[in-house]
Amino acid sequence: MIERPRGTRDFDPAATAKHRHVEGVLRATAASFGFREIMVPTVENLELFTAKSGPGVVEELYAFKDKGGRDVALRPEFTASVIRFYLSELRSLPKPLKLFCVGNAFRYEEPQKGRYREFFQFNAEILGASSLEADAELLALSLTALRQVGLKETEARVGHIGMLRSFLKEAGDRQAAILHALDKKDFEKLKAELAAAGLSHHEETLRTVVGLKGGLEVLDEAGTLLGGEAKPVVDYLTRLRDRLALYGLADAVTFDLGVVRGLDYYTGMVFEIDSPNLGAEKQVGGGGGYTLAELLGGEPVASTGFAIGMDRVILAAEAEEVSMAPPVLDVYVIPVGAPSRAAAMEIVLELRTAGFRVDTDLIGRGPSKNLDFANAVGARLAVILGEKELAGGKVSLKDMGTGEQVELERGNLATGIKERLPPRPTP
Ligand code: HAM
Repeated sequence: MIERPRGTRDFDPAATAKHRHVEGVLRATAASFGFREIMVPTVENLELFTAKSGPGVVEELYAFKDKGGRDVALRPEFTASVIRFYLSELRSLPKPLKLFCVGNAFRYEEPQKGRYREFFQFNAEILGASSLEADAELLALSLTALRQVGLKETEARVGHIGMLRSFLKEAGDRQAAILHALDKKDFEKLKAELAAAGLSHHEETLRTVVGLKGGLEVLDEAGTLLGGEAKPVVDYLTRLRDRLALYGLADAVTFDLGVVRGLDYYTGMVFEIDSPNLGAEKQVGGGGGYTLAELLGGEPVASTGFAIGMDRVILAAEAEEVSMAPPVLDVYVIPVGAPSRAAAMEIVLELRTAGFRVDTDLIGRGPSKNLDFANAVGARLAVILGEKELAGGKVSLKDMGTGEQVELERGNLATGIKERLPPRPTP
């Protein structure tokens, strides 16, 4: 038996249905916020990701040479591709440009629950709007999308990487390594990196600042600890909260000045959303304001974005017992005896054209086996075509839930089905 590669998964019909359900809800929410979908390649030139994704991502890249000897990599995320696409072809579109994409991404990580080598992201970006309103809109989209899925127990933590970057501006090239140590809360590494940068005297302040978490009061504390340079950020985050209040979401976020993010391109507001039900890999999404266009050789463009990890959203939804109902077959059509087969196909086509989800027997089962099958696949109604009834212009309709069976005029079948079909669980 050939096994699938480690960290990848197969999705059976039930798992795929959950996936598509969540994807549908996220897509619909993004569309309701005026975002438009784009698609970008799964494989990109390696240098797109080595430019500024940070060592975490670079070490985890699925990179290889193609047959032409070019260094390429499977995408570990979407943001770099979106910016590349923007710089080469989308710059003339009206701004702000609100874009989203959905698909698989690859990171060569140590697999565990909620952490895979192939995983699925829903990614949204606003380009060309350097404004607090854009940051708020983006945060609001991520929070609303998760609420629309049905998650109630997620926690959004908002910080600002600009605060730490300006405090650490003397660290020069070592700033990224210091921020990584803070992101991983690796205080041994932090100590070493600060020492190497000659900034050991900042250790205590940094450790205190990244431990600040709560309401508006923690912003004041950070202002006191970091001095006047932190003031613009304190003002920004305070006004961001006011803006979120207009969406009814002011209470949906906690300030957390320890949000550093694993990717190197962030420069502004940063946020992470956790589900408390997921154990070690609890982060269901994250993002913030970033600078990437210049690093890819283009004109600067104000950028803010986030990605939601759909696999983790599904795990969180399962933990919260949120329904992600698999699609159900509306009608299963059962011909009884060979002469009914043509009439069965006529009914199948008629109902499919009317928009129902319809299946019929393909392997010549008898009526009771067919009813068992309809039951097993979750059909909501069965149409039974006995020869005698058909000759009299009648058909039987069975409700698979209640077991109730009625005889209808053949001409009234579609109406009868419409009347009996409880609304299909919608995303
Ligand atoms: P990220 O935090 O690296 O951000 O990934 C976003 C989400 O993808 C994570 O919160 C997590 O739910 C999910 N995720 C990441 N790695 C894995 C994995 N190995 N297995 C399962 N899920 C995973 C970004 O990717 C940025 N591009 C977000 C962004 C967009 N920032 C600005 N624009």
